[in-house]
Amino acid sequence: MSKRHENNSAPTELIAGDIEYEMGIPIPGVILEKEKWVQTAIKKLPENSALDFKVIFGRTAPVAIDIGCGNGRFAISSAVRRPDWDHVAFDILPAVIRYGTRRGNQRGLNNLRFAVCDGWRFLESYLTPESVQEIHIYHPQPFADRTQSSRRMLTPDFLGLMHRCLKPDGQVFLQSDQRDYWDYICGIMGRVFEWEEVKGRWPEDEHGRSRREVLSIEQGLPIFRGTGKKRADLTDDELKTLLADLPQPKFRVEGAENSGGHKRSQWKPMRRDRNRR
Ligand SMILES: C[S@@+](CC[C@H](N)C(=O)[O-])C[C@H]1O[C@@H](n2cnc3c(N)ncnc32)[C@H](O)[C@@H]1O
Repeated sequence: MSKRHENNSAPTELIAGDIEYEMGIPIPGVILEKEKWVQTAIKKLPENSALDFKVIFGRTAPVAIDIGCGNGRFAISSAVRRPDWDHVAFDILPAVIRYGTRRGNQRGLNNLRFAVCDGWRFLESYLTPESVQEIHIYHPQPFADRTQSSRRMLTPDFLGLMHRCLKPDGQVFLQSDQRDYWDYICGIMGRVFEWEEVKGRWPEDEHGRSRREVLSIEQGLPIFRGTGKKRADLTDDELKTLLADLPQPKFRVEGAENSGGHKRSQWKPMRRDRNRR
């Protein structure tokens, strides 16, 4: 009989048939018998070459990537829901990748891999042009302190990299609970993608696609969602010109330190977001 397990369950406490819960919301998939566990970690990324998805997954299928995946809730959910797709999820923090990897392994998700990697480096070094069908970024860190604004992931150059890696009919999915970042994102995405904001929750994951979304919903924060198809009509030169014209992400996060003292969104990382996965 399957049992409930909250998110901090140690692997040894889980048995086949169990369903894990995080903040009361099930993590999709079921724990399998040990013989059916798989290896979802990419332990060593190549030194000088791109990833070969055909070799990694042993088949040719559309690939979705999740950048800054945190504990991997979205990637796991999508891999369970879409067995015909392959998924690569990555984050700079090894600790969160360990949670995702364990869950992917125990659910037997052959169509999912996790890696520890910086988002920029992954797109630039490990993806070939037009190799990915979907790019997902949920709650990119806004780096509220302006002295850290150079660490913000969504920049014009990063848009260029996403555009390059996507297949001609590829699509980006973005989400944030930080209004200032969102305003910036909407201002730049529409130039390079057929961008539209999405009203309401994603239908397949009504309790939240990612851990941060579940937390934000619980805390009653506004959540901004959007998606954009690649503008495949742009030539390389046109793309370069468009990107050169876009502003850098130097926006102020209102209410944060070094933002000039204005108070509006008061965005802070959530304690539970930092301490528990
Ligand atoms: C607010 S959390 C969101 C995590 C997850 N996407 C979610 O929605 O629950 C932001 C995540 O981005 C990761 N991150 C920050 N900068 C990154 C970068 N340059 N490359 C990859 N991941 C990054 C952080 O380690 C963190 O796990």
